[in-house]
Amino acid sequence: MSKRFHIITYGCQMNVYDSRVVAEILRRQGWEEVDSPEVADVIMVNTCTVRAHAERRALGRLRGLVGLKKQRPVKVGVLGCMAQHLKEKVFELVPGLDFAVGPDGYERLPELIEAGGAYFPPLTHLYTGIHPQPDRPYSAFVTIMRGCDSFCTYCIVPYVRGRVRSRPVNDILKEIQGLLDRGIKEIILIGQNVNLYNYDGIDFTKLLDKVADMGIERIGFLTSHPKYFDMRVIEVIASHPNIIRELHLPVQAGSNKVLHRMNRGYTREEYLALIDRIREAIPDVALTTDIMVGFPGETEADFEATLELVKHVRFHYAYMFKYSMRPGTVASKWQDDVPETEKLRRLRQLIQLQNSITRERRLEMMGNTYEVLVERKSRKGDEYFGRTIQNIPVVIDGDVQPGDTVRVRIIKLVGCTPYGVVSG
Ligand code: 5AD
Ligand code: SF4
Repeated sequence: MSKRFHIITYGCQMNVYDSRVVAEILRRQGWEEVDSPEVADVIMVNTCTVRAHAERRALGRLRGLVGLKKQRPVKVGVLGCMAQHLKEKVFELVPGLDFAVGPDGYERLPELIEAGGAYFPPLTHLYTGIHPQPDRPYSAFVTIMRGCDSFCTYCIVPYVRGRVRSRPVNDILKEIQGLLDRGIKEIILIGQNVNLYNYDGIDFTKLLDKVADMGIERIGFLTSHPKYFDMRVIEVIASHPNIIRELHLPVQAGSNKVLHRMNRGYTREEYLALIDRIREAIPDVALTTDIMVGFPGETEADFEATLELVKHVRFHYAYMFKYSMRPGTVASKWQDDVPETEKLRRLRQLIQLQNSITRERRLEMMGNTYEVLVERKSRKGDEYFGRTIQNIPVVIDGDVQPGDTVRVRIIKLVGCTPYGVVSG
């Protein structure tokens, strides 16, 4: 049998990274990755389960792929968070599926592809020694910790990703050095809760400091939890010009009642005080967030409190969602009492508000010059696409190459995206 595989990835950066881990494990066994499902012998879908919608999409995609079996012999498997959540039930939902593996079982994939079946080992694994190759030329994710202990009442992640565990420092540094040797310019350290990193007394502050001194052009990290945020991280950022001036700090809601019921571990006032201290220390920081509407018991007044918070903080960008009941979570025992039409109305109103703030923030960039790391050709063709040190996307007109860092003067907005020319 020829050994060509293709992976389709849904979900967050953790999944993007895990798909690279899978590719590396299979490559070591003589498999070859192909970039289209049509020419693959094995097709895998790495799935998300954070909202019901993510599951519906993944199940639909899997059923479509299983349909390919009518034309030619092909094996189809499901990986990741939805597989872990549904376990063996996934074989009933997707008849004809060959194998299913949870997020911590990928080292057994070579056998499972051969024999079929399911593998859901305990959620304690770290993939130490597996250093995946990134699928983009200049930027790479590096997982530093896995799992989550926060147990927000709406969230399924702790159940499908397990408890917090940190990767050995040396393994992380070795992986990063390998990426630098390959010409990677930007490293994003990732984990469900990077603030909780701790390996043998090396905490996240110390790790970030070490990584920032390795000679990397840019370093970022995701995601921070406001409850565990350690101000010493801010000192490390302030003293390293190569650390991305963007902090992703999910707030989720603006009402104390809702924050409490979500088990977020902070109040609105504490969150705002944190933001003030961060901005005081790093005035040019761009803040991004996640916000949810329609959580059980969220009243119109609670929702107004979220809008007020968004107006007050003026985030550079926000990821916004409707609450989706997830089986097994604490909130699933409460009545999902905000009607769907009302959730949708609140979401639309919030998105409209945030979009206008994002646009205002980007208009403020007009006429200014920024250092932009060029990532790739823009989708439309002649221009290039890159990011400022605040991680703000920019379209560049000029003679540049991906991987370059160039000075760009912003002259207009195209939609919401700043557009600039190379200057000096
Ligand atoms: N419903 C809607 N959104 C959710 N998120 C997590 N769980 C749910 C859920 N049950 C959102 C949160 C989180 C982001 C990754 O997804 O905002 O920060
Ligand atoms: Fe990522 Fe959570 Fe979705 Fe898993 S369930 S892919 S950890 S967002």
